[in-house]
Amino acid sequence: MQYPRSQKYNTPSLMAKIMGPNPIKLEEELLMGCFFPQDAVVCDLGSGQGLTSVFLAKEYGVTVYAADLWSDPEANRRFFREMGLPDNKIIPVKADATDLPFEKEFFDAVVSTDSYNYFGRDPLYLDEKLLPFVKKGGRIYIAIPGMKRDCHDFLPTELLLSWTPEQLDYLHDVAYWTDMVKCCQGADVIEVAEMESNEEVWDDWLKQENEYAVGDRKAMEAGGGQYLNFIKIVMQKR
Ligand SMILES: C[S@@+](CC[C@H](N)C(=O)[O-])C[C@H]1O[C@@H](n2cnc3c(N)ncnc32)[C@H](O)[C@@H]1O
Repeated sequence: MQYPRSQKYNTPSLMAKIMGPNPIKLEEELLMGCFFPQDAVVCDLGSGQGLTSVFLAKEYGVTVYAADLWSDPEANRRFFREMGLPDNKIIPVKADATDLPFEKEFFDAVVSTDSYNYFGRDPLYLDEKLLPFVKKGGRIYIAIPGMKRDCHDFLPTELLLSWTPEQLDYLHDVAYWTDMVKCCQGADVIEVAEMESNEEVWDDWLKQENEYAVGDRKAMEAGGGQYLNFIKIVMQKR
């Protein structure tokens, strides 16, 4: 796959901000062909240390709310300023995705990369916790790590070299996610599909020297990658 927009983010200092398989390339694939309305306000849900939020603001020209639970919004604000973005263009918010602190119908779109699987495994989540904050016709773009085929009853030993069964419970296949999002009454499901960038985004992540990437290498070097993929979900609020 070609990633014309992601290339300029492929520097050691920016890659040090990623918290999993390269979220910039994932987001570029996820948003291929997408169109944001002019002056769109977009929620980067589970934005982590804000690299995907910078990518959205700079590459798509939208105003971004970088909403995240674990990261420090002040550290993210410093990073956004270092990246030359004005405070009214990209706003860091400490937020729990299950209890969002925004006005109703505030966002033109929601983009969520490598985080929805933490809080979205509840059939009521979309209707009750997320859609109220999205404008009618607004789109939700999700990229999540998943499994080629769910195998939680017979977990491969390769995967258990890096992750516990509880951690692997966050990963599911296209069929699981299709059933999950089809429960939603308030939005149409446009697409649930495996992503092309899977191998490349894992390669970028496993090159990093942080303890999480080093920990993930054990499973991947033993061949665990054969069971894993990335999944994109695109929906539109009715
Ligand atoms: C693997 S990191 C990915 C971060 C970022 N999207 C990236 O790709 O670099 C997962 C993120 O999900 C966020 N997260 C997990 N549960 C959350 C929740 N309930 N509400 C908001 N964010 C959550 C964490 O704060 C964390 O930053």
